[in-house]
Amino acid sequence: MSDTIPRPVIIDTDPGVDDALAIMFAHRAPTLQVQGITTVFGNQTIEKNTRNACSLVDLLGAGTPVYRGASRPLVKGAPRVKSHDETELGNYRHSGKLRSEAPMTEPKDGDALHFLACAITAGTRIACLGPTTNLALLANLYPEALGQAEALVIMGGVFDQPGNTSPWAEFNVHCDPDALAQLLNFNGVNKILIPADICRAVTMDESDFLHVGDHALSQAIGNIVGEYVAYYRGDHSYGSFTGGVMYDTLVIGYLLWPELFNVEPRHVIVETGD
Ligand code: RIB
Ligand code: CA
Repeated sequence: MSDTIPRPVIIDTDPGVDDALAIMFAHRAPTLQVQGITTVFGNQTIEKNTRNACSLVDLLGAGTPVYRGASRPLVKGAPRVKSHDETELGNYRHSGKLRSEAPMTEPKDGDALHFLACAITAGTRIACLGPTTNLALLANLYPEALGQAEALVIMGGVFDQPGNTSPWAEFNVHCDPDALAQLLNFNGVNKILIPADICRAVTMDESDFLHVGDHALSQAIGNIVGEYVAYYRGDHSYGSFTGGVMYDTLVIGYLLWPELFNVEPRHVIVETGD
């Protein structure tokens, strides 16, 4: 396939500071065409994550359609939300210069599931940046649609290291382990898992993302990632550097440069107990 024709991608996300960077990189990559954004609970509530996705579409001036997805996990109780901060986009909301509180972009009518069932084509790859609840529901309700996709690239899980949410769990899977278990049992589509172990090995320095665009975009990124970077500056286990483990950005990195990754076939079992 020519590497100059933009390839379609759908981003399923719970923005999220690292999600925000991933969404920005995907939109600025000339070889990707973002067909749509579907949101899911996770870093924040579905309402806040959907509003954040709309704010990011405003910021990028991209016009990308946003569809609201699952507000809670398939089986487990009420979702837990992690808070890097109250909105999960750092100080972005207080910037004032970039947007009012309410984003201009509104989520589209119709939910994420219906959009995914209709929009996926043979060349579509889906970047899964949050709990995989939407994709598990799609596998259960519209298996033939999901089977059309070229691949799912999923940020999730942890194998040979402690988790980032419990000693055993990475956040996205911790939010909805049953969803990933069901999705991995769906054999109709290729799934590439990028676990926390790998994300921790590919950290980003501030210089990697503070200059991705014009002044307004760079300033917004600074507002979004500020608190996150401050956290890592103080986290001596990572060497207190000025950057961060920007988990979700590695999914976009794989979509752009798969040759940089060594992908191994694995049989993966998800622990869904307590
Ligand atoms: O464990 C990292 C994952 O949890 C990332 O997707 C981050 O955005 C959080 O959702
Ligand atoms: Ca995420």
